[in-house]
Amino acid sequence: GLNKPAAVIVETVQGEGGINVARPEWLRALKELCERQDMLLIVDDIQMGCGRTGAFFSFEESGITPDIVTVSKSISGYGLPMSLCLFRPELDVWEPGEHNGTFRGNNPAFVTATAALETYWTDPHITHQTALLGQQVEQSLLAICDEHRSAGARYRGRGLVWGLEFRDKSRAGLIAQRAFELGLLIETSGPESEVVKLLPALTITPDELDEGLSTLARAVWEVEG
Ligand SMILES: Cc1ncc(COP(=O)(O)O)c(C=O)c1O
Repeated sequence: GLNKPAAVIVETVQGEGGINVARPEWLRALKELCERQDMLLIVDDIQMGCGRTGAFFSFEESGITPDIVTVSKSISGYGLPMSLCLFRPELDVWEPGEHNGTFRGNNPAFVTATAALETYWTDPHITHQTALLGQQVEQSLLAICDEHRSAGARYRGRGLVWGLEFRDKSRAGLIAQRAFELGLLIETSGPESEVVKLLPALTITPDELDEGLSTLARAVWEVEG
């Protein structure tokens, strides 16, 4: 038989996996299961942390406290390479200087990361702003889905990460391609690249976001007809 797992690793919203949003109740039940079974809960917040879903950590909304959290990508605030693995002190088995490596401790990234934390995370402004911009995205996606209901259009997301999907899985790639021709860079995600993935900069202005959403709506329209 299979031994009991040592840990569970999860994203609260699957980024590359197709923007699948875990419900807060599901995350709380997972945390309880991990506690009951003496397994560690690891949240990979590399793509969904640093304010992407609103709060600094994506799991804050659910109220859970993971045992280990990974962050990377925008943690340095300036595009410099940096990643962090945060864990409870009880789990720290390293002696000072033991966990070393050639490229560890990228000093300029620590400086820019500190500046980013002090600029954006000493008050709740960016969290509120992300919620408002998220509503703006949701309204546009709702309108797109209403217009293209016959194509099975549906959307999902949180904060400033959203996915748009059609019954025909090849649509997402065609829409991303058309959007690119219209001047909008947009990715796809999901196992079959079947989801159009919206991941705008958290510092985008409402006008810029509006322009992007209009371009997306136009690209969908031109592909769907
Ligand atoms: C959820 C998630 N975890 C891990 C990684 C890998 O991060 P890194 O390149 O910092 O190892 C990525 C990169 O796309 C990611 O989206």
